[in-house]
Amino acid sequence: MAENMTGLKRTRRCAEIDQAALGQEMVLMGWCHKQRDLGGLVFITLRDRSGEIQLLVDDSCPQAARDTAAQVRSEYVLAARGILQERSSANPAMPTGRVELRVLELRILSEAKTPPFYIEEDVQANESLRLKYRYLDLRRPDMQRKLVLRHRIAKLARDYFDRAGFLEIETPMLTRSTPEGARDYLVPSRVYPGRFFALPQSPQLFKQLLMLSGYDRYMQIARCFRDEDLRADRQPEFTQIDLEMAFVDVDDVIAVNEGYLSELFRTVMNIEIELPIARLTYAEAMRRFGSDKPDLRFGMELADVSDLVAASPFKVFSDTLAGGGTVRLIAVPGGAAMTRKEIDALGEYVKTYRAKGLAWLALDSEPRGPVAKFVTPEQLDALTARSGAAGGDLLLFVADKEPVVLEALGQLRCEVARRRGLIPPDTYRLVWVTEFPLLEYDEEDQRFVAKHHPFTSPMEEDLPLLDTDPGAVRARAYDIVLNGTELGGGSIRIHDQALQQRMFSLLGMSREESWRRFGFLLEAFQYGVPPHGGLAYGLDRIVMLLSASDSIRDVIAFPKVQTSACLMTDAPNLVDRKQLDELELSVKAPEGRDTADG
Ligand code: AMO
Ligand code: AMP
Repeated sequence: MAENMTGLKRTRRCAEIDQAALGQEMVLMGWCHKQRDLGGLVFITLRDRSGEIQLLVDDSCPQAARDTAAQVRSEYVLAARGILQERSSANPAMPTGRVELRVLELRILSEAKTPPFYIEEDVQANESLRLKYRYLDLRRPDMQRKLVLRHRIAKLARDYFDRAGFLEIETPMLTRSTPEGARDYLVPSRVYPGRFFALPQSPQLFKQLLMLSGYDRYMQIARCFRDEDLRADRQPEFTQIDLEMAFVDVDDVIAVNEGYLSELFRTVMNIEIELPIARLTYAEAMRRFGSDKPDLRFGMELADVSDLVAASPFKVFSDTLAGGGTVRLIAVPGGAAMTRKEIDALGEYVKTYRAKGLAWLALDSEPRGPVAKFVTPEQLDALTARSGAAGGDLLLFVADKEPVVLEALGQLRCEVARRRGLIPPDTYRLVWVTEFPLLEYDEEDQRFVAKHHPFTSPMEEDLPLLDTDPGAVRARAYDIVLNGTELGGGSIRIHDQALQQRMFSLLGMSREESWRRFGFLLEAFQYGVPPHGGLAYGLDRIVMLLSASDSIRDVIAFPKVQTSACLMTDAPNLVDRKQLDELELSVKAPEGRDTADG
């Protein structure tokens, strides 16, 4: 039978204990991690968010405590009053392993069913089970460490930006659609049947309006919602550390953020990062790493060898080049030792990125591989010089149109590094990627779309290209990349109404349509807009990388799974007929049921 706490007050947490507390009486409360009954002698490991401590109940303890101790099972909630004493046999694996609490009074505050998995550091249970019982999963010490880290990182952001003169201002959740390139989550309105709010994909337009309103430095830890296909680093609702500044250019935004990043690494990781952080233009990042989020922890840069193999009798190369394509390679250090099977698997891997194949050349004493018989000794020298390869390396070639080659080799570079263990541990390489293209051509829709978002400013020197070659216009946009993951991104915005209107028309939006969608912004822009720009970090991604987690789900208390569902609450769910009626909605029901009650 569960008892209450009357007369007992928790005096400290289980692991907040030191030698100085020896001999003191204290009251601890927490969960039973483990109970061992050795007949007349009961050990209970008591756990709370600070850690664990051993409770000892032996024949020197009151009979009532001994009776209760015998009934205790895993995950029961207990209150224990006792005296802290030295343990007869210390447990060096436990931070409190030198002490134990000899119990004078023991109460069961709540009983517990046997949990569906054992609450332990390295849980064996599969992730679906963990997510269904997330409240139990969150009891595990490693989950607790991650959420504590998350709290510290969020707090540090608030403190740093506060010191730098930023104001935290909340922006609405129920709003109009804010375009960041994903689908919106819609919320029906009861008062206006048939109309919908959209949940914000980001606070983008509101933070720009705050600049216009004179707040000059804004920050917010903001929840964002995007209905998009999920990956290991994406959630349908996620959190940004969102910033905007007035009267700034690219370098000003970067400078404030380098201060933040260096404080973040110093405080959380005890690492001094070198400032200024390296910068690569988008064009250089693509050319050297085949990616706009290059992982700089290892080499294997892409080399363009088109000129060296233009006249090659190897048809794959010469035909591709004749057709306007390109031939590039990466050199895998020590890769000549790879088996045929391993190399063929890489060939399959690049095909998932639309490459037609993977040609290879192993630099053994006698060069081996499908390309070997087509290269002269002079060509071989030129290829190794161009790629910086050495004996024992493996050259991996892709021939195709440039975008296909860059993506395939960029992905292959990272995959090979993972498979061959070429990524140094505990290494953090930050890089700014700048000068992104303003626009991207959408082959499917046959029109330009904004690469970042439609409020991003073009680079001044590229303005003339807006009419002649819009695809070549570069933007005043930047991303901050850590170890191959985009942590954050932002831009200097368009603050001129005419230019904004021009941008909308490049995106195929008529004057009428742009006013229909963004009228409030265009209207506001007539009332004095300071030049402004900003950036948003993915808070979840920062925590994921700094806690070395494999998935973004591990750093969110109650995340969604790949299918955007919540396994614990079983959302999304059917609703009651009455709710639909109030909203004047009817639902096309694929499962034959359209409401929870009918
Ligand atoms: P962007 O769309 O690049 O920019 O988003 C900024 C950062 O948010 C994180 N992020 C995500 N994290 C988890 N799950 C997702 N689905 C997800 N989508 C994005 C990434 C990304 O770098 N308003 C602009 C910012 C600006 O221009 O100031 C914006 O939202 O880490
Ligand atoms: P094939 O001529 O199709 O037998 O291919 C000979 C070798 O070239 C194989 O190792 C293929 O994987 C490789 N290969 C084929 N197409 C390409 C390509 N576009 N780029 C690089 N290698 C290729």
